[in-house]
Amino acid sequence: MLKGRHLIEPNDFTIQELDEIFTLAEDIIKKPEAYSDVCKGKLLATLFYEPSTRTRFSFEAAMLRLGGSIIGFSEAQSTSVAKGESIADTIRTIGCYADIAVMRHPKEGAPKLALKYSNIPVINAGDGGHQHPTQTLTDLLTIRYLKKSLSNHTIGLCGDLKFGRTVHSLVKALSRYENIKFIFISPSELQIPQYIKDELKGHEYYETSNLEEVIDKLDILYMTRVQRERFISEEEYLRLKDSYILTTEKLKNAKEDMIIMHPLPRVNEIAMEVDNDKRAVYFKQARFGMFVRMALLIKLLGVENNA
Ligand code: CP
Repeated sequence: MLKGRHLIEPNDFTIQELDEIFTLAEDIIKKPEAYSDVCKGKLLATLFYEPSTRTRFSFEAAMLRLGGSIIGFSEAQSTSVAKGESIADTIRTIGCYADIAVMRHPKEGAPKLALKYSNIPVINAGDGGHQHPTQTLTDLLTIRYLKKSLSNHTIGLCGDLKFGRTVHSLVKALSRYENIKFIFISPSELQIPQYIKDELKGHEYYETSNLEEVIDKLDILYMTRVQRERFISEEEYLRLKDSYILTTEKLKNAKEDMIIMHPLPRVNEIAMEVDNDKRAVYFKQARFGMFVRMALLIKLLGVENNA
């Protein structure tokens, strides 16, 4: 039963519960009109202490497409946070008005702290370099929909694997499925943290800094940007930012049915020419993000039977 639950990291939900969300999302993709009133009278609060395009707009679009309403902020300095209000008091106050809250925060653990003081479900929309569970739901739905299964894949994760919270969440989540092989492609300075490798539950993995060396082995290539906002040294960021730039030339040895994913925003790591390649699915992925968030809102609000 997902009604009333919080989502702080992807593994808060069992595989069966995730399956229920994906099955519902696929039904919404098939017949969105059947869900256009399901959240009538419900209010979503979007609390974004950090910038966002996809996560905030897809949540807001999701709630509006379900017939519900939205309040929120995309700039915390326009709220009483600027006067020193704590996360605890902000979420208590939001709980007086809204039925469910989505929070993005630059500090790791902020949404987890919020749920301790919250009388409404709290969804983590990304906390620092830690986790981004609804991006993971998006990524899993994309893989399940386009590759027909969440098992039996070799996935290459390429770029900033140190600070990329979408990578951390996705690796943890995929480790729960069968026969997944991970290939971590990064400069040595941006390698995947040991605590994430400790979660691989016996799955095979390989680390390299050379994308061309492994591209022919991949079923899924998950590109990420170098996370400028998490660097202490601007000089170090400038040195590493263009470590990988995917071009059509670099794709010549990739499998015909490989899919290229990216949580976006993209900076320079995928050349625009790649957008025309049928394997590039990152804008489809962004659209799946809205459908999976529609399914998540329905489940956490417990309004499924209204459809
Ligand atoms: N993928 C993602 O989290 O994008 P935004 O930062 O634009 O929300």
